[in-house]
Amino acid sequence: MNIVIINGPNLNLLGKREPEIYGNTTFEDFLHELKVKFPAVNLHYFQSNIEGEIIDKIQEYGFDCDGIILNAAAYTHTSVGIGDAVKAIKTPVVEVHISNTFSRENFRHQSYISSNVKGVIVGFGLKSYELALYSFLG
Ligand code: DQA
Repeated sequence: MNIVIINGPNLNLLGKREPEIYGNTTFEDFLHELKVKFPAVNLHYFQSNIEGEIIDKIQEYGFDCDGIILNAAAYTHTSVGIGDAVKAIKTPVVEVHISNTFSRENFRHQSYISSNVKGVIVGFGLKSYELALYSFLG
């Protein structure tokens, strides 16, 4: 099974960035744990701070892998382009957020992605990604 995790802007700073919201673990360390825990899954990873690069990756993986776990970070709340890319592809997408976006500022309550995904997992810290992975394992 081929699954890709796509992370958006500023998520390269996990571990350093606002640890009271996003925790102290780097994504690389977490990804390593995830790969050890799910050896049967071929887990790919991509992070970018650039909207167009995220769209390119969604298109690239969107027709020939089994699932996309997408945390578009701030672009979730602003990007019609990423929302359209998710709508255009065949691969099912699970939207994840580390923090509970609904308990934060109003602008984080809006998502241009949610209406076109299989499901949304919000607010469980890095465990949100693991729960998303379970959802693809059925
Ligand atoms: C986030 C929530 C977004 O509102 C924010 O812009 C992020 C991270 C999360 O995972 O909690 O960068 O997607």
